[in-house]
Amino acid sequence: MMKVRKAVIPAAGLGTRMLPATKTVPKEMLPLVDKPVIQYIIEEAVDAGIEDILIVTNRAKSAMDDYFDYYPELETRLKQAGKDRELFETRRAADLANIFYVRQKETKGLGHAIWRAKRFVGDEPFAVLLGDDIMRAKKPVIGQLIEAAERHNASAVGVQYVPTDTISKYSSVKVEPLEDRVFSVSDMNEKPSPTQMLSNYAILGRYVLQPQIFDILEHMKPGYGGEIQLTDGLRVLCQQSNMVAVDFEGKRYDTGNLRGFLEATIDFSLDHPYTGKWLARFLKEKARSL
Ligand code: G1P
Repeated sequence: MMKVRKAVIPAAGLGTRMLPATKTVPKEMLPLVDKPVIQYIIEEAVDAGIEDILIVTNRAKSAMDDYFDYYPELETRLKQAGKDRELFETRRAADLANIFYVRQKETKGLGHAIWRAKRFVGDEPFAVLLGDDIMRAKKPVIGQLIEAAERHNASAVGVQYVPTDTISKYSSVKVEPLEDRVFSVSDMNEKPSPTQMLSNYAILGRYVLQPQIFDILEHMKPGYGGEIQLTDGLRVLCQQSNMVAVDFEGKRYDTGNLRGFLEATIDFSLDHPYTGKWLARFLKEKARSL
């Protein structure tokens, strides 16, 4: 199988679960400690060896492409003020990867957003990372998927076991064990009820896809919620060619909702060299008075 060199990050959602903050700030730009959410996603892809990244945006998200650009006036000022760390971090964000953008002109669903990447991807396997799903892992989660996809010459979806009462937030996958933490996939469905679910393994925002997905998505009819669903396309893909599910190692946060966002904020702040010790003390004191 060809090496996975490209990644697609769909970021064209309206962010309705985080209003009113996301009325004018794209949800991908909300800060998790000291970096915007989307930077964690880009860093995960880069850590896994990805060089070219396409962000699928919309007309309300230009703050994202500004963020990954240089900012000469600010940089000059930081240099003059001797703020070396701030200068370094400001430049680093712009130099992380080759970032490209395409707009999803209509909000027609995740499958449609991915289909917009067809020209960028061409005829090679590619990674997909959903902007809401932030991972804390020793080894980049998308790297774990890439390894399995390359080993099995297959597409790959990142899954974890979720309780039955939450499966309806995800797509559930029909799996057969293949090797340690890797399953073969023969079916899946989007947002199933507990009686419709195919297993407790849910896809959590990471994929490695073969380029055949584009032709499939192009002909896909709207599914759950009246949207073109990526899951419906993957269902066809897994019946046409090999697909594996990787029960990835790492913790996943759904930063698209308030609780997941707060959990991620606390865990990442506890890990952060500037805030970790202080926050641990603060939380202990706080917990005593609750
Ligand atoms: C999307 C996908 C779903 C997947 C989930 C993972 O749903 O459609 O298949 O399980 O992300 O986080 P959303 O969270 O956009 O409703």
